[in-house]
Amino acid sequence: MEDQKKMEEFQAKIDARIKIEPKDWMPEKYRQNLIRQISQHAHSEVIGMQPEGNWLTRAPSLRAKKILMAKIQDEGGHGLYLYCAAETLGVSRDQFIQWLHEGKAKYASVFNYPSLTWADMGAIGWLVDGAAIVNQVSLQRTSYGPYSRAMIRICKEESFHQRQGYEIMAHLANGTPEQRAMAQDALNRWWWSSLMMFGPHDSDSAHSKDSMKWGIKLETNDDLRQQFIDKTIPQAELIGLKVPDDNVELLPNGSYKTSDIDWEEFWNVIKGYGPCNTKRLKHHKKAHDEGAWVREAAAAYAEKKAVEAVG
Ligand code: 3HC
Repeated sequence: MEDQKKMEEFQAKIDARIKIEPKDWMPEKYRQNLIRQISQHAHSEVIGMQPEGNWLTRAPSLRAKKILMAKIQDEGGHGLYLYCAAETLGVSRDQFIQWLHEGKAKYASVFNYPSLTWADMGAIGWLVDGAAIVNQVSLQRTSYGPYSRAMIRICKEESFHQRQGYEIMAHLANGTPEQRAMAQDALNRWWWSSLMMFGPHDSDSAHSKDSMKWGIKLETNDDLRQQFIDKTIPQAELIGLKVPDDNVELLPNGSYKTSDIDWEEFWNVIKGYGPCNTKRLKHHKKAHDEGAWVREAAAAYAEKKAVEAVG
């Protein structure tokens, strides 16, 4: 009876759009769902730095290098906000990293594809960050307080990420025939994996029912994906590029009908069979090991300060 009453009070707060805070009572399934989603979101931000980091030393100008450097640094900070939000649910950062390294945690499958040309920096910013913005603007209203506040901070930076990517694509699309071809090739390679960022169809989503009931998600995977498609196809046409789908059709309501996603590819990449899955985790483990001295120094400094504070 006690838990039934607590559950009713919890759901009443969700329905009244009152934020759930770390010290509030929450159903264990709600906590576990958030631990899963927020930590995987954080992993995505950090692993997502790799395809872009690949082009830092090869940026075509100092201005381009400065912009890319700033964007990559932002993504590291986004990971930090999200790990901090996830830790409020009672799991340590070390545990999250261990689950990632053991293959027990996911990150956005889009980052398991290679960044082959400079145009990929444009496509990632325009499409991957563009998709992330659609998802994250919605997540600003998520029911869990720390996650919502992290999203509000992150969204302030994401529009710069998308804008600088679209600027790269517009510049190339209006350049030489070779540059235009490079931009179209990048669009061809990043379009479908960007659509996959919104997850499986609602009917195939394991978590959406609970996530919608508990206000973790405010809009469904398919609704957010459609918003992204409707926003992005006109942007491609504006710079003379074409999304790699011959079945695109503008409907009377202003929305676009498109082909379905290759769900076999979606699940294969998530299962670890993408072009870069092994490389991404190997690099993350190497960087984590090489950064151990920083964590140890920070912990030692914090302990020294704590001892001094006690006097
Ligand atoms: N890549 C990898 N795994 C995915 C996925 C994807 N694109 N889409 C879904 N999945 C996984 C889910 O994690 C879940 O697996 P799990 O139970 O092991 O966690 C399974 O597929 C079923 O999917 P569901 O729809 O049931 O799962 P969710 O309800 O969690 O919805 C989601 C999936 C929409 C991706 C949701 O988790 C979400 O909104 N996550 C936060 C958004 C996010 O991670 N964005 C990427 C940010 S990266 C970034 O911004 C960097 C910048 O550079 C772009």
